[in-house]
Amino acid sequence: MQRSDFPALPAHVGIIMDGNGRWAKQHKLAVALGHRQGTENLREIIRHTDDLGIGALSLYAFSTENWRRSPEEVAALMQLILDYFASEIDELDEKQVRITILGDKEGLPEKQRETLRRAEERTADNTGLRLNIAINYGGRDELVRAARQLAAAAREGRIRPEEITEEVLAGQLWTRGQPDVDLLIRTSGEMRLSNFLLWQCAYAEFIFPEKLWPDFGVADYDAALAAYARRNRRFGGR
Ligand code: FPP
Repeated sequence: MQRSDFPALPAHVGIIMDGNGRWAKQHKLAVALGHRQGTENLREIIRHTDDLGIGALSLYAFSTENWRRSPEEVAALMQLILDYFASEIDELDEKQVRITILGDKEGLPEKQRETLRRAEERTADNTGLRLNIAINYGGRDELVRAARQLAAAAREGRIRPEEITEEVLAGQLWTRGQPDVDLLIRTSGEMRLSNFLLWQCAYAEFIFPEKLWPDFGVADYDAALAAYARRNRRFGGR
């Protein structure tokens, strides 16, 4: 479908790409291959987001809680980050996509940190789709960091406590300058936010397709966007 097919489109879509492990199990494959398969459909999903003129897309790739997985699975996901950027960065840059990493890069191994830093730097002046990839990300962690920065600013006399507004706090988040999430999609039938964009999802519409992430394609994405367009958003009003 194209932009004119939708009566309304979100300005910012968040996706929790869930179900890679179950997909691997279904296909009797190692979990790492499930994650790898989960990057195959990403290219089309990103391309479609861009074609529709949706301004921002946030993807949950690795949470602060994902370190609890087996060392093998963590290593596979870390390798996937390197491979993903190596294979996609040229096309993304060419399409004017601006990449922002949400999460604490300092907590990542050197190679990953450098790769992500370079991707952000290379695309920093691009004017197209804002592609946010959450890696070593936690919504609470993001809010704690914002609180610390504002407390430090207050202590140093750079801001007065009563000057701290929603806008000021939002300006301390990794998504600063971007619109709130309008539509949050989590695949595989799980209905949880799992610490993803807690602040930014305050008024988001939630859609939970049953499909496992590697099976989620552009037609499923269109169906979610069409369902979003049918929702009546009131933002607390009538
Ligand atoms: C959840 O599935 C998925 C993840 C923890 C990782 C998602 C990552 C990708 C799709 C790779 C994207 C990478 C980049 C760099 C964009 P799960 O393993 O929790 O699935 P399960 O609940 O079925 O076990």
